[in-house]
Amino acid sequence: MAKINWKPGNMIYPLPAVMVSCGTEPKNYNIITIAWTGTICTNPPMTYISIRPNRHSYDIIKETGEFVINLTTESLVKATDYCGVKSGRDIDKFKVMHLTPSQGVEVKAPLIEESPVNIECKVKEIITLGSHDMFMAEVVAVNVDDDYLDEHGKFHLDQTSPICYSHGSYFGLGNKLGTFGYSVAKKKTKKRKKR
Ligand SMILES: Cc1cc2nc3c(=O)[nH]c(=O)nc-3n(C[C@H](O)[C@H](O)[C@H](O)COP(=O)(O)O)c2cc1C
Repeated sequence: MAKINWKPGNMIYPLPAVMVSCGTEPKNYNIITIAWTGTICTNPPMTYISIRPNRHSYDIIKETGEFVINLTTESLVKATDYCGVKSGRDIDKFKVMHLTPSQGVEVKAPLIEESPVNIECKVKEIITLGSHDMFMAEVVAVNVDDDYLDEHGKFHLDQTSPICYSHGSYFGLGNKLGTFGYSVAKKKTKKRKKR
């Protein structure tokens, strides 16, 4: 076995493929699919999305300074792809994909009702990098679908059937392999967790 050396490029996969909604009123609401996203700080909660300046959503988000990250699921995979290949300059993606815009708490940008987790964000800084500009943003509210809350108020994200994006393809998540810290958990704790 030998390693093949490739030219520099991004090979960090899998990634989330999220639907980012933006706009301040129905006539300029839009959705863009984004894979260049992630968490950059726990407290204050900060995230980023990187967008090419030629995207229709780029101007909307730059102007309004806000957006919503909507997590995607197996039932949203077609809409996720569609919103990543069609531009809001030409069509209303909410309408064509039968998605429902709903009111956020802290931002005017719409939530996508069909998504189980809607993360409201306010832009703090735009960093010019090259092909993409990075919109660093603070998370100002999180909305979750109460269908996935159990009787103790615990949210079961796995039950939403999340998807990820890996090297050009969409995948569902496979089996659960462990929980945070399981590799060092004491036997007793492990047993308790099994129950
Ligand atoms: C899975 C996937 C991930 C994408 N990730 C990004 C991204 O991170 N940044 C970006 O600028 N465009 C990304 N795109 C492309 C945009 O979503 C696409 O160009 C979209 O049509 C732009 O819509 P708009 O013109 O309405 O803003 C992605 C597309 C797909 C299918």
